[in-house]
Amino acid sequence: MFRNKIILFVVSFALICGQVYSQCSGGLPQYPVFNEQATLLNTTSNGKLYVVGPSNNTVNVVQLYGTPYEMGYAQGTLLKSQVNEIYDNFFNYITVMVNELIEKYADYLPLELVDVIEKFGVKAALDLTADATKKYTPSRFFEEMQGLADGAGLEYKTVLQVHMFPELIKAACSMVGAYNSATVNGGLLQLRALDFGLDPWNPLRLHPIVSVYHPTEGGHTFSVLTWAGFIGSLSGYSGHMGICEKYWFHYNGTASREGFPWHFLLRDILQYDSSINEALNRIYNNERTCSIFVGLGSNSTNTFEAVEYSHQVVRVFDDQTPFPAYEPQPPAHPNIQDVVYIDKYTQPSNNPCLASVLQKNLGQIDIQTLIDVTSLLETGDLHIGIYDFTYNQMYVSVASQDNWPPPANYSPTPAYARQFIQVDLEYFFNESQ
Ligand SMILES: *[C@@H]1O[C@H](CO)[C@@H](O)[C@H](O)[C@H]1NC(C)=O
Ligand SMILES: *[C@@H]1O[C@H](CO)[C@@H](O)[C@H](O)[C@H]1NC(C)=O
Ligand SMILES: *[C@@H]1O[C@H](CO)[C@@H](O)[C@H](O)[C@H]1NC(C)=O
Ligand SMILES: *[C@@H]1O[C@H](CO)[C@@H](O)[C@H](O)[C@H]1NC(C)=O
Repeated sequence: MFRNKIILFVVSFALICGQVYSQCSGGLPQYPVFNEQATLLNTTSNGKLYVVGPSNNTVNVVQLYGTPYEMGYAQGTLLKSQVNEIYDNFFNYITVMVNELIEKYADYLPLELVDVIEKFGVKAALDLTADATKKYTPSRFFEEMQGLADGAGLEYKTVLQVHMFPELIKAACSMVGAYNSATVNGGLLQLRALDFGLDPWNPLRLHPIVSVYHPTEGGHTFSVLTWAGFIGSLSGYSGHMGICEKYWFHYNGTASREGFPWHFLLRDILQYDSSINEALNRIYNNERTCSIFVGLGSNSTNTFEAVEYSHQVVRVFDDQTPFPAYEPQPPAHPNIQDVVYIDKYTQPSNNPCLASVLQKNLGQIDIQTLIDVTSLLETGDLHIGIYDFTYNQMYVSVASQDNWPPPANYSPTPAYARQFIQVDLEYFFNESQ
């Protein structure tokens, strides 16, 4: 009772003060976008290393050219110390995280995998996952991981284990695609906010990178917002397509350990596809593993669609489809013309924040609106990418990188509370070797 009164008081106080976004828990962002040019730090035979961002908030941009092996080798060489720092701390962290998830969600992993984790540890589960996915994975991914291992001075087996972790975790996350009548210039904007849980011991926060691939063996030039030493794509943009994902908690079908790891499949969408239909064909025609929501932005149609992606089911949602596919549609998730969105909560979400911000800015949505969204909804703790298809730009924000090893009681600052950094992909896509 007492708590309800306090909440009522806070809500009415916000109304009296005319707070614009009273349905959101967060406030407006504090910083303007950092838009100075990137600085070249180093070059190697198939790559270049840049840094961009204010001094205590930096992201490396790494240009990679050549065959899969050469691009892997270039990343491993240029980011050797960063890759090693992440790998040295990765297994301790992921062990704690996976065990917490097992405690929290009864049916979070197939029982035999939980058994393996309890008896032999997380590395054994990662090895099993690698075996189960091997025959569905194109060899170029293995060649690139071998190059990365050789460049960074790591064992190939370790690199492979690290690349299996997305198959074992669940992340929250939000996504928005806005286009045509919804945006200020009619262009397509896509938001991807990754909510991973901000453990101060998560080494991924130390070295966020944007890798820009210039493959010589076919496909588009494309970029991935990721971490030093991780070649999968949880977030990425190619100029043709933008991708993002979110764990689909309410999926009630079966999962499979056998199939194409989803973060490699999403990367192939960036490298090879030019439309939502091509991407959907790729999704339909591959053996899928986990259940996630995938966001697909496409430059050729200037639209965005969200996909329920799972081992058994694929379902597609656009701005006219009730979401999630339940009747009645939750009041907190009205259809909004030319906007497709999913907030960070388990779906169906009853939180009105995201729809309220989008509706309030409808017709005027721009980069700043989507930056405001992350701060108001407090979404995107580990990283955030906003893709501007009109100008080929990516706006990136990352969690705080300082304090390693983290002192007791240290809480990293989430990406949504930090300064966004503009990454000029128009420049990086077109820079020759
Ligand atoms: C540049 O990269 C090379 C590896 O290609 C490395 O040996 C060297 O230390 C790097 N230089 C700087 C200034 O980081
Ligand atoms: C994206 O679409 C715009 C407008 O149709 C076009 O000018 C641009 O070349 C397209 N970009 C790519 C990478 O195809
Ligand atoms: C599973 O979820 C779907 C909606 O996604 C629903 O139609 C179906 O009834 C559910 N099945 C079970 C067994 O709960
Ligand atoms: C960066 O450091 C300065 C002081 O050195 C501090 O005022 C500022 O808040 C920091 N910015 C971020 C984003 O951490």
